[in-house]
Amino acid sequence: TEPLRLGIAGLGTVGAGVVKIVRQKAGLLEARGGRPIAISAVCARNRAKDRGVSLDCYDWEDDPVALAQRDDVDVFVELMGGSDGPAKAATEAALKAGKDVVSANKALLAHHGQALAQAAEASGAVLRFEAAVAGGIPVVKALTEGLAGNDIERVMGVMNGTCNYILTRMESAGLTYEQAFAEADGLGYLEADPNLDVGGIDAGHKLSLLASIAFGTQVAFDDVELEGIGRVSIEDIRQAADMGYKVKLLGVCQMSGRGLEQRMSPCLVPALSPLGQLEGGTNMVVIEGDQVGQIVLRGAGAGEGPTASAVLGDVLDIARGTRVSTFGQLSDKLVKAEPAKTSTP
Ligand code: NDP
Ligand code: HSE
Repeated sequence: TEPLRLGIAGLGTVGAGVVKIVRQKAGLLEARGGRPIAISAVCARNRAKDRGVSLDCYDWEDDPVALAQRDDVDVFVELMGGSDGPAKAATEAALKAGKDVVSANKALLAHHGQALAQAAEASGAVLRFEAAVAGGIPVVKALTEGLAGNDIERVMGVMNGTCNYILTRMESAGLTYEQAFAEADGLGYLEADPNLDVGGIDAGHKLSLLASIAFGTQVAFDDVELEGIGRVSIEDIRQAADMGYKVKLLGVCQMSGRGLEQRMSPCLVPALSPLGQLEGGTNMVVIEGDQVGQIVLRGAGAGEGPTASAVLGDVLDIARGTRVSTFGQLSDKLVKAEPAKTSTP
């Protein structure tokens, strides 16, 4: 059987993790995907850097756009990051060339998801991004496949592990925001621009993608009501605890008569609820469907193994012949939703 040939752009935490799985689990992936999974070429900035995995048997490209256009690449795997620049240029080039794309890049998709979905549709390519939302939790697959027979009523959750870690340490160890932030920094949790985490932007990106998938609407990151955790004090957390609540950076999206509500902000949740008991750098997504009721998905939202796991899930779907993009082959039907005029309590 012909192998499915990957071109991997980005060999950092996630990219190196994907290469390791492809090398270590070749037999399992072939059995599950129905054909071998091969890597034709890889790309990063620094060719000399040790990635913890041998890259000797793959071609090297310095330019991600060139990688995306290679004849021996069937699937362009974008793991560089950034909402514009090389990630956007290379993803566009891949889709234009009719290559399928698997991406973990929530920033790119939150800002340009609609245009990229249209580009995929125009060339008959598939665009998948399970890893972009809640890392290892297969929430996109849950919404698009397992729960496809439901009208989704609400999706909510904790979608940034760094913020949950900081809030948990403030609560359990009595650290100030500054102390917990410094601890998270020391553990390497923070994004290169920490405001993406603590400003709620990274979680807002994820929420906007989930809202689009759940409600069949265009991605509307600019309409997300955003508030980060920078103003949460130890006193807020103590008062919440006295009342039986915890403070979480909670995302909520729901469609009402007033429009599409998308909010990412610090909220009080009951301490004994699943969300209230979510500790450390973990993520949780709660989905409410008209038929299924409430589903709670919990797991690692970041890290090498969990995020690479989600990337491989998309790759294997493509290997099996799935021709459905994450947004569905529906980009022209994705409607522009009116943002909700006022928040619900
Ligand atoms: P890293 O910063 O660890 O790795 C980024 C990689 O991209 C590096 O190998 C870097 O090269 C390469 N790169 C950056 N710019 C260029 C460029 N212009 N040309 C070629 N290569 C380039 O990022 P992560 O692995 O953590 O994240 C990758 C993507 O996955 C991001 O979109 C991120 O948001 C997303 N993601 C990450 C998660 C995580 O847990 N880390 C979880 C979920 C999603 P070099 O190494 O040479 O500098
Ligand atoms: N900075 C993100 C987080 C990484 O803390 O959840 C995963 O998207």
